[in-house]
Amino acid sequence: MTYLQGPEAETFARAEACDRFPVLAMPDLTYTPEVADATAPIYAKVRHVIPAIEWPAFAPMIHAINRLKAERNAVILAHNYQTPEIFHGVADIVGDSLQLAQEAAKSDAEVIVQCGVHFMAETSKLLCPDKVVLIPDARAGCSLAASIKGADVRRLREAYPGVPVVAYVNTSADVKAEVDICCTSSNAVEVVESLGAERVIFLPDQYLAKWVASQTDVEIIAWHGACEVHERFSGAELSAYREADPGLKIIAHPECPPDVLAEADFTGSTAKMIKWVADEHPEKVLMVTECSMADNVAAEAPDVEFVRPCNLCPHMKRIQLPKILDSLLFMKEEVVIDPLIAAKARRSVERMVNLKS
Ligand code: 13P
Ligand code: SF4
Repeated sequence: MTYLQGPEAETFARAEACDRFPVLAMPDLTYTPEVADATAPIYAKVRHVIPAIEWPAFAPMIHAINRLKAERNAVILAHNYQTPEIFHGVADIVGDSLQLAQEAAKSDAEVIVQCGVHFMAETSKLLCPDKVVLIPDARAGCSLAASIKGADVRRLREAYPGVPVVAYVNTSADVKAEVDICCTSSNAVEVVESLGAERVIFLPDQYLAKWVASQTDVEIIAWHGACEVHERFSGAELSAYREADPGLKIIAHPECPPDVLAEADFTGSTAKMIKWVADEHPEKVLMVTECSMADNVAAEAPDVEFVRPCNLCPHMKRIQLPKILDSLLFMKEEVVIDPLIAAKARRSVERMVNLKS
């Protein structure tokens, strides 16, 4: 992205800054000995996954962002798919979609910067309507969220009268407003069973729906959405890895197709996959999910060998350090939700967050 440092920066700032907050001065982004010292503990953590030659490019921005956070009374939430310089360098809270939603609800900060995709920022805004929620690039979408609209849910309700509807959080606020309850990949089975119904409409991920159906007696009616990252994996690819190395452990996200999950030693949300590695401590593991996650876990488990069939989420990768810096300087992009939609969508998210496990 173009980084504005000259007089254009001021014009840009005036056009974008949220009225309630002053625009802050552009920090010096030189890699000085002071910056090297201040960021040395962070580099010690990521040195296995970020080459030393790249650190002088990241460190000044990490240093500046961490100072600006305090000045703005801001907290940075980062999903497990963010790159290591964000995940380990500037995030205050990291996790899967459920953990980020729960932590957003608890936070005392005035400003939340969501390093993830747009539906995650919307979920934070629903749970924290009085906070300013910023997303460093509002174009960070999700193929699942794009696969369904509120009007589709209304049509499903007409086709299946009386059948409750569960929406994966990977949906827009417009869809959340039309459903009974939300779920994440961490709690999908519990949410479906909590409804006490014989049949449940589960949307929009057809593969997560199939996985949930395999774990419960509740009949699942699915939508046809798919994650563009996870649907690219195949069972044949994984069995080839396993044939080449019979000791390899394979762990997979439930957004993967059934032939992939059939090859997996464990299936779970991103947070559950991380916990599985910490608990089982495998010698060699293949994480069937977005590839930045293996980097983030590898930084903390240098003695585990990670096999990385690298599928990147192009939406998650839109979030980068210079854009996070811009977010804090210019208070952009602010997430705003129509109040009528927000009131209905909030009920579905809160019902999930308040579910006792
Ligand atoms: P998790 O809730 O497991 O982190 O998944 C979110 C997501 O977008 C996976 O593709
Ligand atoms: Fe959406 Fe898939 Fe990217 Fe997750 S990895 S944000 S489900 S496109």
